[in-house]
Amino acid sequence: MAQEIVKVHPLVVRITHWINVAAVLMMLFSGWKIYNASPLFGFTFPNEVTLGGWLAGALQWHFAAMWLFALNGLVYLAYGILSGHFRRKLLPISPGAVLRDIGQALRGRLAHEDLSVYNAAQRAAYLALIAALVLLVASGLAIWKPVQLYWLASLMGDYEGARYLHFFAMTAVVAIVLVHIAMVILVPRTFPSMFTGRIRKIP
Ligand code: HEM
Repeated sequence: MAQEIVKVHPLVVRITHWINVAAVLMMLFSGWKIYNASPLFGFTFPNEVTLGGWLAGALQWHFAAMWLFALNGLVYLAYGILSGHFRRKLLPISPGAVLRDIGQALRGRLAHEDLSVYNAAQRAAYLALIAALVLLVASGLAIWKPVQLYWLASLMGDYEGARYLHFFAMTAVVAIVLVHIAMVILVPRTFPSMFTGRIRKIP
């Protein structure tokens, strides 16, 4: 079978993706420790999946990783918008196409010959992930500076509302990332392509 190698992921996307994975893990695990100090719901996160040792340590991790996460995210968003990467890879998208591709994926019939083009379900997942991450940052800013950014906090139901929103956005990110990782496991040849930027196209 003839195999054509195609370029799939630009260098900026690959670098920012893996920095983002490290930053998100630090944000999550330290965030869960901070949550445990004052839980919103009737549960806390097990100590084994928290970072920082105690509240002050977790806050330091959260604030340090925040800069890495936010600056890296800005580079990715600026590149995605200015280079046309988002327009080329994540658009167009329609509810009909997303439902069709989710249906085909659940029946194991989604085509994987040309992995240089994201299917509609993938486009929806990545766009939802980016939106949830932006919401996480916005609600995080409102919790961090509720007085200076009162206009932002008041949009979210003030400090308490922003805390709930931050928690729900985190939950959405975790849920989408779990599906994302399951998809990578199901189509494992996408994994090395996120390092090399290239992939085989099966004719
Ligand atoms: C160990 C965890 C992860 C692995 C193994 C992984 C792997 C991958 C792979 C292989 C792709 C390319 C998919 C393809 O070519 O079909 C990809 C794309 C992507 N991943 Fe991940 N990922 C992980 C975690 C994350 C996390 C934590 C986020 C965000 C919170 C994320 C966001 C994205 C986005 C937005 C894309 C699309 C990038 C673009 O083309 O602009 N990933 N990931």
